[in-house]
Amino acid sequence: MTRLVLATANPDKVREIEPLLTGAGVELVGVTDMVPEWEVVETGRTLEDNARLKARAAVVATGEAAVADDTGLFVTELDGAPGVRSSRFAGETATYRGNVELLLDRLRKVPQKRRKAKFRTAVVVAKPNGTERTFEGVLLGYITDSPRGDGGFGYDPVFEPCGQDLTLAELPLSVKNTMSHRARAFIALAEFLMANPDWLEVTDPPV
Ligand code: IMP
Repeated sequence: MTRLVLATANPDKVREIEPLLTGAGVELVGVTDMVPEWEVVETGRTLEDNARLKARAAVVATGEAAVADDTGLFVTELDGAPGVRSSRFAGETATYRGNVELLLDRLRKVPQKRRKAKFRTAVVVAKPNGTERTFEGVLLGYITDSPRGDGGFGYDPVFEPCGQDLTLAELPLSVKNTMSHRARAFIALAEFLMANPDWLEVTDPPV
């Protein structure tokens, strides 16, 4: 198994992502298990910028290859908002509930067929030699009129994936975790690592 640092302070993310990468021979270690005080302010203008910022900060902190993800909810009728600001949509100290309430309020008069939205995840894997690769995962769906379900987190209670009658918060977590935007992005990384088994090991500076 090759070790890869996951640039997050959230142990739930390590648990969710690890099974997606084990087939590619990767063992994930949370960055805060190695450097407990690790922290990054997400100042990027895009999901890729933020994922790169976190991955590179974890490389600097640990001296090892690291991977990071960043996710946003993009609502067509709101010109792509909340997007990269999804966690802070209702303000710097916003709660999941506050964000969901603001989203439903903004869409109050919008009929069902115009409530299209997508979750998008960017994943950046970076190595100490400066090489990096970016992957993405997308999940298309609709924003519901009101929250439904107790599972998941964030905007899950108001997001119905295309082809489903249930919100992400009503679907079992095991189902969400195989179809989600985050799963798709990390599966793309796993496929890249399976096709390029030495990629993480190579330490030469990029030409
Ligand atoms: P992060 O980049 O994974 O921290 O996600 C940023 C924000 O997007 C979170 O604070 C949530 O509000 C939202 N979010 C990310 N992933 C999901 C998801 O799988 N379901 C619902 N909301 C999500």
